[in-house]
Amino acid sequence: MKKRRQNIAAGNWKMNMNYDDGLKLLEEIVDSKRAENVMTVIGTPFIHLDAAVNLTKGYANISIAAQNVHHEMSGAFTGEVSAGMLASLGVKYVIIGHSERREYQGEDSALIARKIELVLSNNMIPIFCCGEVLEIRKAGNHVAHVSRQVEEALFGFDAESIKDIVIAYEPVWAIGTGETASPEQAQEMHLAIRRVLADRYSEAFAESISILYGGSVKADNAREIFAKKDVDGGLVGGASLKLNDFVSIINSF
Ligand code: PGA
Repeated sequence: MKKRRQNIAAGNWKMNMNYDDGLKLLEEIVDSKRAENVMTVIGTPFIHLDAAVNLTKGYANISIAAQNVHHEMSGAFTGEVSAGMLASLGVKYVIIGHSERREYQGEDSALIARKIELVLSNNMIPIFCCGEVLEIRKAGNHVAHVSRQVEEALFGFDAESIKDIVIAYEPVWAIGTGETASPEQAQEMHLAIRRVLADRYSEAFAESISILYGGSVKADNAREIFAKKDVDGGLVGGASLKLNDFVSIINSF
């Protein structure tokens, strides 16, 4: 199987940045001195997507992600955005299953799997998020919990369909809290996720998937986390809103 695993620095702006500020930051990221061999992905709010895709056209190592997509193809769903609409703009990635959506919008594995299906059928790449809350970590059930999230969301797809998928492991207790999983904690889970994929698909498949760590990744901790064998990069919230911090994270491989 062709090796698709790559280093990825993905920013998730969440519900931040008005139109002008967002495009200014994006222009600055595009113009920054970035490591050539790192794929930079920027998850902007919907309002930026069209301009952001145009702004980054022609750059092989920077792509735009949507932060969400609806789980139906089209129809009477006021205020929603479909996978086909995102694809028609040239959006390449879609973040799916983020813990904030699981918590505040009640997204469950069945819904997440449906969104993944629509993203794939529109030739975009899902960034599938998984991760445990603090109580589960404290009880020592984190590996079982995250393994189940991966199984429930992905196992309905064959290897060929999800060969390009990106997985983001984001312990919920580390998101926006300033508390980061230690590089060892990240490595343990990333390896566990690869084992789950190897058991269902194949060793080669598991080795080919990019797995990102997310949760308070900052300019000063990215390098030691990214250095771990099974960590292929980060999904970065807060620090992706600051030019120098994010560029420094991009350059932390
Ligand atoms: P954070 O967010 O970097 O602000 O912790 C990460 C995420 O939620 O993707």
